[in-house]
Amino acid sequence: MPNVTFIADDGTETVLDVAVGTSIMEAAVMSNVDGIMGECGGSINCATCHVYVQNAGGFGLPDVGEVENEMLDATAAERRPESRLSCQLIMTEAMAGLIVRLPDAQY
Ligand code: FES
Repeated sequence: MPNVTFIADDGTETVLDVAVGTSIMEAAVMSNVDGIMGECGGSINCATCHVYVQNAGGFGLPDVGEVENEMLDATAAERRPESRLSCQLIMTEAMAGLIVRLPDAQY
């Protein structure tokens, strides 16, 4: 199973095997990764699944959608060029080795 590394604001790293077809948000919430809340369940309506993708190149990530783009303007932590909503990152084999940093606040 492809894996994703989550790096918390304090530097703690968590590596999860994520089933293809599962969102990064869902995987983090199911494994109780601190720093990702996913309050809306992935309906792009809360921005509490905000992550900073550290190494986006070459993973075939989907483009930021229109609604995602609007919600990224409402994140608790600053929006950066590498900001994504992790509920919109659905795991594929090509995403193995993805690294996401967690912001210091989600609400
Ligand atoms: S879980 Fe709410 S926007 Fe991603």
